[in-house]
Amino acid sequence: MLGRLNHVAIAVPDLAAASAVYRDMLGAKLTEPQALPEHGVTVVFIDTGNTKIELLEPLGEGSPIAAFLEKNPAGGMHHLCYEVEDIIAARDRLKAAGARVLGDGNPKIGAHGKPVLFLHPKDFLGTLVELEQV
Ligand code: CO
Repeated sequence: MLGRLNHVAIAVPDLAAASAVYRDMLGAKLTEPQALPEHGVTVVFIDTGNTKIELLEPLGEGSPIAAFLEKNPAGGMHHLCYEVEDIIAARDRLKAAGARVLGDGNPKIGAHGKPVLFLHPKDFLGTLVELEQV
């Protein structure tokens, strides 16, 4: 069921400053910032060849990363995203195994235009896990 690591997400308080760290200090190529109002974030992606880094900045009221940034004001690692072939089959299998799916339990369309789901960090070793259907 578990596919490749699609991206590692880092929540940041200032997307422009965070982008500058990756662009200017690390010499990375970045995508243009993309606002995702349905997810309450603006994102920038960095392709590292074998996976991607996703920089996340809060967008709008009640952003799902606002509380995380209150606890981690300088930013921090927020979630891992794994690819799956069939997100509904993956969700049903995980729910049957006792895992909690966040939100209403149905996939939303993510930053790559593909269905995504988030799994409760308490069920995955303290790590928020995103699944993306590829
Ligand atoms: Co993500």
